[in-house]
Amino acid sequence: MKEIKKVVIPVGGFGTRLLPITKSQPKEMLPIVDKPAVQYVVEEALNSGIKNVLLVTGRGKRAIEDYFDYAVELERELEEKGKTDLLELVRGTSEIARIFYVRQKLARGLGDAMYYANGFINDEYFGVLLPDDIIDAPIPCLKQMIEIHQKYKSNVIAVMKVPFSEVKAYGIIEGKKIGDGIYDIVDLVEKPEVEQAPSNLAIVGRYILNSTIFEAIEKTEPGKNGEIQLTDAIKKLLYKERFIAYEFNGVRYDVGEKSGLIKANIAFALKREDLREEIKKYLEDLFRRD
Ligand code: G1P
Repeated sequence: MKEIKKVVIPVGGFGTRLLPITKSQPKEMLPIVDKPAVQYVVEEALNSGIKNVLLVTGRGKRAIEDYFDYAVELERELEEKGKTDLLELVRGTSEIARIFYVRQKLARGLGDAMYYANGFINDEYFGVLLPDDIIDAPIPCLKQMIEIHQKYKSNVIAVMKVPFSEVKAYGIIEGKKIGDGIYDIVDLVEKPEVEQAPSNLAIVGRYILNSTIFEAIEKTEPGKNGEIQLTDAIKKLLYKERFIAYEFNGVRYDVGEKSGLIKANIAFALKREDLREEIKKYLEDLFRRD
């Protein structure tokens, strides 16, 4: 079994659930404390042993490229003023990984965005991380999934149980339980109405996929919301490939949505030694006043 060496991170979406800020600001650049959301997923890949990262961008996303590039003037200024800590911090983000870019020309769905990775991926398995989903876990979610992939030698999709009232916001799987939190996927459906949902096991934005997915995407017609859905392409492969659903260990924040972004900021701030006491006290005072 070849080692997984590459990940794909689609960052082309409009961020409509976060308007108006996303009118001129990529949602992936919104801060969680002092780092943009996209950095958390790049770091998850690195902490899972993967350095080669393809970002599938789109119009209006140049701030992401600038962020991972050198900031020549700023670095010179920090150097001259002897601010070495800040210099290291700024330079660190541009040397974090080997980042590649390709630009999705029209926002035609996650399946379409993924198809742009076709030339980057050879005959191999690779990881996919959706930056709307930030996962706080003692062992990075992708790393947990790589272990499952090595054990079952299959595709792996991260899932979590959601209330039935929320199934229509997710891809939902139908699985045959084969272990603790591990299922053989027998069917999956993108954003079903509750009556059509085969379970409440929702796809979270982490996948390990075989390169055969590209051929399946080619054959996939627009589905839910008129978009080419990755879920539909996966469904096409089920007859010949094994897909394992894995209930990961960790807390997931949907930072593509207002309340999720706020929750992630509070949770990550409370984990930071330099902020914890101040934020905790502030929240306590706030509730006392309430
Ligand atoms: C995408 C996938 C969906 C999955 C979700 C997880 O949807 O299409 O299957 O459940 O990510 O975040 P999106 O939320 O991008 O519309």
